[in-house]
Amino acid sequence: MKINGKTLVATGGASGFGEVCIRRFHAAGASVVICDLNEERGKAIEKELGEKCLFVKTDVTSEADVSALCAAAVKKFGAIHILVNCAGIAPPKRILGKEGPIPLDDFKKVININLIGTFNTLSKVAWEMSKNTTDEDEERGVIINTASAAAFEGQIGQAAYSASKGGIVSLTLTAARDLARNAIRVCTIAPSTFLTPMADTLSAEVIESLARQVPFPQRLGNPAEFGSLVQFMVENGYMNGETVRLDGAVRMGPR
Ligand SMILES: NC(=O)c1ccc[n+]([C@@H]2O[C@H](COP(=O)([O-])OP(=O)(O)OC[C@H]3O[C@@H](n4cnc5c(N)ncnc54)[C@H](O)[C@@H]3O)[C@@H](O)[C@H]2O)c1
Repeated sequence: MKINGKTLVATGGASGFGEVCIRRFHAAGASVVICDLNEERGKAIEKELGEKCLFVKTDVTSEADVSALCAAAVKKFGAIHILVNCAGIAPPKRILGKEGPIPLDDFKKVININLIGTFNTLSKVAWEMSKNTTDEDEERGVIINTASAAAFEGQIGQAAYSASKGGIVSLTLTAARDLARNAIRVCTIAPSTFLTPMADTLSAEVIESLARQVPFPQRLGNPAEFGSLVQFMVENGYMNGETVRLDGAVRMGPR
């Protein structure tokens, strides 16, 4: 799918990976919609990018919010062609703490935002995409989800996070098959550790130790490298139903 003249929605678009996609696709000639809870950052980016950018305060776990997001995006830009699901959280918690087992609500919260939130936007935006006329490449839409290397090698304290990301990996092929008749492609990216605001909580020591574990290049990922893979997946019409690791060949250890 060609990007120029299309409309992209990015969940988590006010920070990190989502913001990188918003800026990259805007620079490539797309209209962009920031879907995020962070109103201050979202509005600041909207103001900076101008007419071809819209911020819609959205909780990805809310059906009403995501329906309102779709309506606002279609009202302003006429259609949605590309969805990048980046909204997510990664609070670490062991299954057994000193006080007892992890409260079920803590586990549910991560599954709700990362997995159910992804499915909520995927399904509702796909419905909007299904109304598009096919473009010059015979496509109606492209959806890119964000999993994590933790879907495959969850580290200690990542039970909820790795379960949520594993769900996204398992969803990918099924969603691609389901939406094939609508000419919508679905792919997923599974990044290792990248230097986004999510990694801000890591100490310099931890960052260095994580970087040392990466075979090549021995550093953490640059968010621009994520944006570049999203663009490739959107532009390459034969990429479908696949989860691609983006990780410098690292395989995460238990900690
Ligand atoms: N940074 C990494 O190292 C890394 C590695 C692997 C996977 N990921 C995944 O990439 C995605 C983006 O991460 P990031 O590093 O850019 O994080 P980030 O914290 O910079 O951005 C996440 C954004 O999601 C938004 N958000 C959170 N809950 C939301 C909700 N309920 N509704 C709408 N928006 C919500 C936040 O406000 C924030 O702007 C996440 O799914 C994360 O799990 C990140």
